[in-house]
Amino acid sequence: MPTLEIDGQRIEVPDGLTVIQAAERLGIEIPHYCWHPGLSIAGNCRMCLVEIEKNPKLQIACNTRVADGMVVRTTSDKTKAAQRAVLEFLLINHPIDCPVCDQAGECKLQEYYMDYDRQRSRFPLPAKVRKKKAIPIGPLVMLDQERCILCARCTRFLDEVTHTSELAIYERGDHCEIELAPGKVLDNPYSGNVVDICPVGALTSRDFRFRARVWYLERAESVCGACANGCNIEIYHREGRIFRFQPRQNLAVNQYWMCDAGRLSYRDLQGEGRLTHPLVRGEDEFVPSTWASAIGQVVGRLGDLAREHGPGAVGIVVSAHAPNEEVFLLRCFGAALGARVAAVSWSPPGAFHDDFLVKADKNPNTEGLRRQGLAPDGAVDELLQAASTGQLQALVLHRMDPTAWLDVAAVRPALERVPCLVVLDTVRREASEYADVVLPIATYAECDGTFTNHAGRVQRFHAAVAPPGEARPGWFVLGELVSRLTGGGPYEGAEAVFAALAEECAAFRGLGYATLGSEGRLAARAGA
Ligand code: SF4
Ligand code: SF4
Ligand code: FES
Repeated sequence: MPTLEIDGQRIEVPDGLTVIQAAERLGIEIPHYCWHPGLSIAGNCRMCLVEIEKNPKLQIACNTRVADGMVVRTTSDKTKAAQRAVLEFLLINHPIDCPVCDQAGECKLQEYYMDYDRQRSRFPLPAKVRKKKAIPIGPLVMLDQERCILCARCTRFLDEVTHTSELAIYERGDHCEIELAPGKVLDNPYSGNVVDICPVGALTSRDFRFRARVWYLERAESVCGACANGCNIEIYHREGRIFRFQPRQNLAVNQYWMCDAGRLSYRDLQGEGRLTHPLVRGEDEFVPSTWASAIGQVVGRLGDLAREHGPGAVGIVVSAHAPNEEVFLLRCFGAALGARVAAVSWSPPGAFHDDFLVKADKNPNTEGLRRQGLAPDGAVDELLQAASTGQLQALVLHRMDPTAWLDVAAVRPALERVPCLVVLDTVRREASEYADVVLPIATYAECDGTFTNHAGRVQRFHAAVAPPGEARPGWFVLGELVSRLTGGGPYEGAEAVFAALAEECAAFRGLGYATLGSEGRLAARAGA
């Protein structure tokens, strides 16, 4: 393993690493535009020029492999002069758009100008080459040719990752421009990633642009819940509102990317129809209730029915949208009631999937159900059948509505006939209209928890925003139900619930929020 020195610090690194990567390991940032760890090396922007002893010329750090005894200087006068020169060159034809550019606040031209340049332009404004602006090049992406610094990250992504090649660089010299290939539109399932990797404001998101200045937004680490892949994401939010999802690096799951459907799925988390108060059925209609009263009624009625009619009188259906913590508590709840617990993992027939990230299973936690011994095996149909023939005294539906995949007419007898129907959900759906008690719970963007992805990787998500109205995290509501029924103490938080799950279930043994870190850990194969 070669040992080299960068800015006076010695480091031993694996053979084949580039200088930019070695510097990164030392916490030294070498400015760069075209280099991206998920793409081939283009070496075209020259922003990463550094001084390397015994080399007559400066070298680009992104395409220079480390060698034993190498001495690198990233802050020498020669390096600084090169950084200033490259920035001046890149800015010659760059428009003065910062006040109206959606990239402001996360633009590498702005940042590097402040860090490495800070000189007045020597180029008269009228002499700048004008190019086309605000061109919609696909459903998600807007192109501003003037702002492009021709780093070719976008074209490499489309050539190397999606293999769709919608964009290319045309013309020569200072007339070079990014343009759609003839007859093409930037409309592939991963098109939004080009916005993330464009270091400047040349490619902006048609969904996000002009909705918020990024410096006002806060971020929370999370996991996309729109399919079983569990791509790692960051939720950008402000004052209780989610503005965008962006991918977060996890080489074992999604590398640096996410799909467009997942990217836009934040809309489903704050759409219409959210349940905001516990509801209890009055004479005809629902009456808003307090949590204490609604929980008291659920525990009282289900407890009475279970005692009166014995094991199997209560049925619980848990969906693969429930986090691991809620699945665990539902199992505890079911055990205390002697209930039959069935799991469901439903996806629209023919749902899009590919051999890259997107899975046909549109549920984030099907594997989590399996690892807790709840295979989605059709037992829900038996429960609904039992409810419709009067053999079930109570039914609890958790984060699901059977009318999503069954005809309403087929489900209605079960929902109407069962003496007690309890629904825990985020939104008001068909099934909640038949409920005796409706308990409003948080989406995964509003609470802490974990999902287990298709490969068995247990991954954490963090609360980004507060649940609306009186809605509460699912682990909290279920924890209350369990503790009221069993007399145990309430759980202090999602972490405590996970710790109890890890103690009880072999698949999660040895795992905890601290050990999961930000990239998750694989669960064991064993069931509960
Ligand atoms: S549009 Fe952005 S990513 Fe593409 S070449 Fe220009 S600056 Fe680079
Ligand atoms: S592939 Fe699945 S988990 Fe990843 S972003 Fe898309 S929908 Fe979300
Ligand atoms: S980052 Fe090295 S040349 Fe662009």
